[in-house]
Amino acid sequence: MPCNCCEITDKAFSEAEARSELKKYRRKGPARQSTLILEAIRSLGLKNSDLLDIGGGIGVIHHELLDDVARAATHVDASSAYLTQAKAEAARRGHSQRVQFVHADFTDVAPELPKADIVTLDRVVCCYPDFRRLLGAAAEHSQRALAFTYPRETWYLRIGFKLGNLLQRVRKDPFRIFLHPVSEMDSLLKREGFERLARRRLFVWEMALYQREGAPA
Ligand SMILES: C[S@@+](CC[C@H](N)C(=O)[O-])C[C@H]1O[C@@H](n2cnc3c(N)ncnc32)[C@H](O)[C@@H]1O
Repeated sequence: MPCNCCEITDKAFSEAEARSELKKYRRKGPARQSTLILEAIRSLGLKNSDLLDIGGGIGVIHHELLDDVARAATHVDASSAYLTQAKAEAARRGHSQRVQFVHADFTDVAPELPKADIVTLDRVVCCYPDFRRLLGAAAEHSQRALAFTYPRETWYLRIGFKLGNLLQRVRKDPFRIFLHPVSEMDSLLKREGFERLARRRLFVWEMALYQREGAPA
């Protein structure tokens, strides 16, 4: 599907927003939905893993997992503002040499990127119109585990997303949010050879942890 998503997404996430998210993270630690991903990944007991964090924003997932689970990380993001803050925090933590930062739409650069043990997408599928393309490429890159968060299919989010997108249209801003069908995302990952190990819910976000079938325990 032709898509200028990287350009649209880059504009949608501003410098000010990225700076304020990093400030909040330094003050309060990971957000609740990110904590669900971190707990799920840590429950697998992996060590010295390679992590691929797609749409990592200010980089919370790799800042945390490089302390105990991952030896190296690749952070691919369509937002240059977020990547700037993620790099600053990685440097502050002494992680710069262990993280590769890539400014791109993941679906464009996926064929050039190496596979990883763990793939994460925290609040990313809802920014991307074609979840099959994004999740399919993410699944192909995971050798062991994939964890992601996405908005729940509830009546209140259906209304909220419709209103949000209407507002975007009025503002003439092409960025849209998407409430993708959870059962179809689950089927896609199962077809790619994954089994779902866990699913946890918050009011807005749901987190699902998948493991590649046959991956060593
Ligand atoms: C709502 S933010 C979430 C950031 C971070 N994961 C978090 O939870 O704080 C969505 C992020 O996904 C990125 N993104 C969306 N679609 C992407 C794609 N196709 N490839 C790479 N990054 C993408 C955006 O640039 C943005 O940084």
